Amino acid sequence: MKLIILGPPGAGKGTQASILSEKLGIVTISTGAMLRAAVKENTPLGKEAKVYLDKGQLVPDELVVSLVKERLNGSDCEKGFILDGFPRTVNQAQVLDKNLEIDKVLTLDVDDEVIVERLSGRRECKKCAQPYHILFNPPATDGKCDKCGGDLICRADDNEVTIRKRLEVYHEQTEPIKAYYMQQGKVVIAHGKEKIEDTAKEVLKILGIEER
Ligand code: AP5
Repeated sequence: MKLIILGPPGAGKGTQASILSEKLGIVTISTGAMLRAAVKENTPLGKEAKVYLDKGQLVPDELVVSLVKERLNGSDCEKGFILDGFPRTVNQAQVLDKNLEIDKVLTLDVDDEVIVERLSGRRECKKCAQPYHILFNPPATDGKCDKCGGDLICRADDNEVTIRKRLEVYHEQTEPIKAYYMQQGKVVIAHGKEKIEDTAKEVLKILGIEER
């Protein structure tokens, strides 16, 4: 399956992508995680991207598009993939369409008021980027990732000012993608405001994936 997960910051894209990845045995490609890794490694791309990430703005299309194109050439994408955080502009969606055919676009609907609470309590694994929440999805051992044992950290852009900017950018630049894919009949919508496991069940159902 070639799937896009679309939704505002904190909608649960990464959380649902991780569940689906495991279930379907396909990789997740998160442009946010790739950009944060580049920042951490202080690469030329990372240096450029940091300016935008810190402000909650989108990184210019040309930088992200080349990053994704290269990643999609990986042999681990042959079986399918989940795109988390890409495309984020109609232009990115059009470029993607020129390169490959997406099967479905899963949209997670969550009201803005829920987002700030979610992102303020988010913790992320420093090593593998698995997301947690101090209240809604805590790790088994405090401060440690269940999957790889890495340390859990707060993301630099999870402060209230940047979260509100990210929401504004989402509504202005990313939400129009929904209409773009609706015209192609590819959009399926799940209620991201339910509990993680309930949303996961709904997602499996609307994607026609059997629960094991
Ligand atoms: P990115 O990393 O993609 O961030 P985002 O879109 O803001 O989304 P988040 O990762 O914050 O949230 P999520 O929806 O994955 O939620 P999660 O599952 O973690 O992008 C960051 C930045 O990179 C952008 O601002 C931009 O600058 C740049 N960028 C990235 N891609 C780009 C692109 N294509 N073009 C240009 N620039 C780009 O869940 C959030 C929290 O809630 C967690 O704590 C989780 O445990 C909890 N949670 C999840 N689901 C539930 C639930 N159902 N109930 C209760 N809690 C829940």
